[in-house]
Amino acid sequence: MFQRAQVKLGFQVLVAATLVATAALVGCGGGKPGAKSAKGGGAPLAIPGAPGPAEQLAVGGKSYADNCSTCHGDKGEGDAPSPAIIGNGALPEAPSKDAELRKAKFLTAQDVYDFTVKTMPKDGVGTVTADEMWAITAWTLKQNGVEWGTDPLGPTNAKTIKLRK
Ligand code: HEC
Repeated sequence: MFQRAQVKLGFQVLVAATLVATAALVGCGGGKPGAKSAKGGGAPLAIPGAPGPAEQLAVGGKSYADNCSTCHGDKGEGDAPSPAIIGNGALPEAPSKDAELRKAKFLTAQDVYDFTVKTMPKDGVGTVTADEMWAITAWTLKQNGVEWGTDPLGPTNAKTIKLRK
């Protein structure tokens, strides 16, 4: 009887601890009010204030460095003929006039993902898994100051996330 009570108490403590931990996480997820993601200026793999899906962003930053930075630059600043994909004017709505591969508009996160998963890395299409490409897309968009709250980026929310206000 006494033991059972202890077990139960232990469980309650665990639940309480989990709730506190979750609350702390959710609290963090909100980010600092007014904090804006770096517009391409910050350190390449920084996760600004880690708002949102921190783990996905960490994977994305690393995978970007491994698979994309050779052409698009450590900070996504571009290196002709590879366009800038981070910073002012990056990911423009309409494809550039001399674009070879890109035909579609970039209006939402889904548009960017659809393009990159089919055509990038240009020298190794298919070498990046879908999950990793979602992570890279999430990281790239955060670096550009796009915000969508605390859910990881993926097929369920990407169409609703607009690149421009
Ligand atoms: C071998 C060089 C190379 C690598 C590696 C590469 N890209 Fe590209 N990327 C390009 C080129 C060149 C273009 C322009 C394509 C066109 O003409 O439409 C481009 C275009 C893009 C665009 C569209 C930009 C715009 O303004 O239209 C995005 C987004 C992009 N790449 C993301 C990525 C991601 C993410 C990775 C890594 C998974 C990656 N790229 C790896 C060369 C590369």
